[in-house]
Amino acid sequence: MEGRLFIDGKWETASNGAFSVRNPSSNEEVGTAADGSREETRKAIEAAESARPGWAGRTAAERASFLKEIHRLMMEKQEELGELITLEMGKPFQEAKGEVAYAASFLEWFAEEAKRVYGETIPANSPDKRMMVIHQPVGVSGAITPWNFPQAMVTRKVAPALAAGCPVVLKPAEDTPLSAVKFAEICEEAGLPKGVFNLITGQNAADIGGELMANKTVRKVTFTGSTEVGKILMEQGADHIKKLSLELGGHAPILVLDDAEVEKAVDGTVASKFRNAGQTCVCGNRVYVEENIYDTFVERLKEEVEKLAVGDGFKEGVALGPLINKEGWEKVDRHVKDALDKGAEIVTGGRGWEENGGYFYEPTVLKNVTSDMVIMEEETFGPIAPVQKVSDENEGIHLSNNSPYGLASYFFTESMSRGMKVAEALEYGIVGWNDGRPSAAQAPFGGWKQSGIGREGGHQGIEPFLETKYISIGL
Ligand code: SIN
Repeated sequence: MEGRLFIDGKWETASNGAFSVRNPSSNEEVGTAADGSREETRKAIEAAESARPGWAGRTAAERASFLKEIHRLMMEKQEELGELITLEMGKPFQEAKGEVAYAASFLEWFAEEAKRVYGETIPANSPDKRMMVIHQPVGVSGAITPWNFPQAMVTRKVAPALAAGCPVVLKPAEDTPLSAVKFAEICEEAGLPKGVFNLITGQNAADIGGELMANKTVRKVTFTGSTEVGKILMEQGADHIKKLSLELGGHAPILVLDDAEVEKAVDGTVASKFRNAGQTCVCGNRVYVEENIYDTFVERLKEEVEKLAVGDGFKEGVALGPLINKEGWEKVDRHVKDALDKGAEIVTGGRGWEENGGYFYEPTVLKNVTSDMVIMEEETFGPIAPVQKVSDENEGIHLSNNSPYGLASYFFTESMSRGMKVAEALEYGIVGWNDGRPSAAQAPFGGWKQSGIGREGGHQGIEPFLETKYISIGL
């Protein structure tokens, strides 16, 4: 596949040429993508600005019908889009098809939400006044998306922006640009007016992202990625007080209390920890288990984890694909080695390898883990479950909250009153209680502390693309 830039409804080659896109399972080239520049980003922003009044001026129902058509086309092409995700990102094909359905669900959800952007009237402070509040689109929006969900992170940003009436310039991750190219093709096929959605793929994130941040026509930037880059964007946005939504790093705790149903806790831990080979921002990164069920839990987790096969995502029965690249693999390996050096023991797994240019790691469970290990402090982004013993619920909550991150957290208990208290005590934007997969289009996704600003999904997800206007009328 040969991807081009999509600007103002036209496909263009980039002045810098193209770059190679590789399959992380084999390092083989799967296609090329256009290497967009700062100038081309500027051109896309200008196109978006020209399209803005027309798009914002459409009725919500009209915008919704475009989103519904994009949803329909994505589901019609689920196999093809899933194949492309597996090819350029590596996740197993079944999981990739699941991602396409998840991605499409944001279009359906925000098509409906477009029609619910209600204002309000306020009882006035004088008989000869009337007061009202309306919401209007914020304007041209930049979206910068990561490689771990090549379709779903695009739609989770683009769908609410379009629903709100904002044209978009998208910069997808350089590891997975081809899924975004397919998305642009679908927007074109759905008849989206020119300039409403623009795509700038490219390797020079500093130039493309830099233009999105520096250009004052861009009123809003929404980003998913590391906390480190999020901080840079905040600094870059300061000059124009750029509106930002940031979905940043996580370091999710999983807390298993002694009245948990062990089977549920093991299933939830496997779902949270090993989905996408541990490469999600909401992956459980560290597991805390009350001491009286520690051994039982570790033993059952071992049995379930040993059922997970690693390999090429197109191979039948594979549950974990490769890690995205060598750097990702090295980080995982460094975390495991540090834990072993400090006294952790391997329960299962622990082996990583390179094969035909792909970087793989066995799903791994570590026991006798302690808080001084790097894996208990930093996001791993890989298939390692370090399990630490805690003496009681309070210690578990304390350790869970003892982190600069606050995206997702998980806990397991069958007690309603205990569970409600734990849910309230966890300083996280997302809490999965007996649930290892809380993400859904209709629910707010986002973090506390250094995990970000703003929410995506849910009825909250459209708000970052809207301005609030108070109108005071003298009669
Ligand atoms: C992410 O890793 O940022 C997205 C994960 C999800 O939507 O569940």
